[in-house]
Amino acid sequence: MLFLSMIFGYLLGAISSSYIAGKVATGVDIREHGSGNAGATNTLRVLGLKLALIVLIADILKGVLAIAFAHLVTSDSDWAMALAGLAAIVGHNWPVYFGFRGGKGVATTIGVLVTLSFLPAIYAGLVAIALLLITRYVSLAALVFVILVPIFQIAMHSSGPYIWVSIIIVLMTFWRHRSNITRLRQGIEHRIFTR
Ligand code: G3P
Repeated sequence: MLFLSMIFGYLLGAISSSYIAGKVATGVDIREHGSGNAGATNTLRVLGLKLALIVLIADILKGVLAIAFAHLVTSDSDWAMALAGLAAIVGHNWPVYFGFRGGKGVATTIGVLVTLSFLPAIYAGLVAIALLLITRYVSLAALVFVILVPIFQIAMHSSGPYIWVSIIIVLMTFWRHRSNITRLRQGIEHRIFTR
């Protein structure tokens, strides 16, 4: 059942809502515009706030539903729920239906971490939102968010599988944000709500 949960999580995560929203609403392949990332931030940049909010919610829900499915079929196994969530993020980042060219996993990660570890994710989220409001760098806020979650999880004695999966998410998020990190270091990263 653990394997089934992971497969379900991956296949659900691989449904690229930003690609579908771009194609359905305007015929645009989001991956050919802006940063080239199939995610909510690039949808905001290229297609506007309304579609970006729809994409954000859909991508968050993928993480939530992947864990809900694992919860149902494995009678609440921590490892199954954590790995199903991780699989949803992997699916979002490397989607089988869309040539393995997906996003950076941030919205789906939010859904996963809030579902697995509500309070650590909320505390990390509050810091990240403050940072986002101050700097308007989504990438920086996302990186700080994923680093803070396992720190809060450890401080709050969360379940071991959740902590291990959160640490893998940190590594994966940094890997997917390599270009953003380079731009941040050079001082040329894109900010949201600017032209
Ligand atoms: O959601 C990913 C975000 O952290 C960065 O997106 O399009 O600016 O590379 P983007």
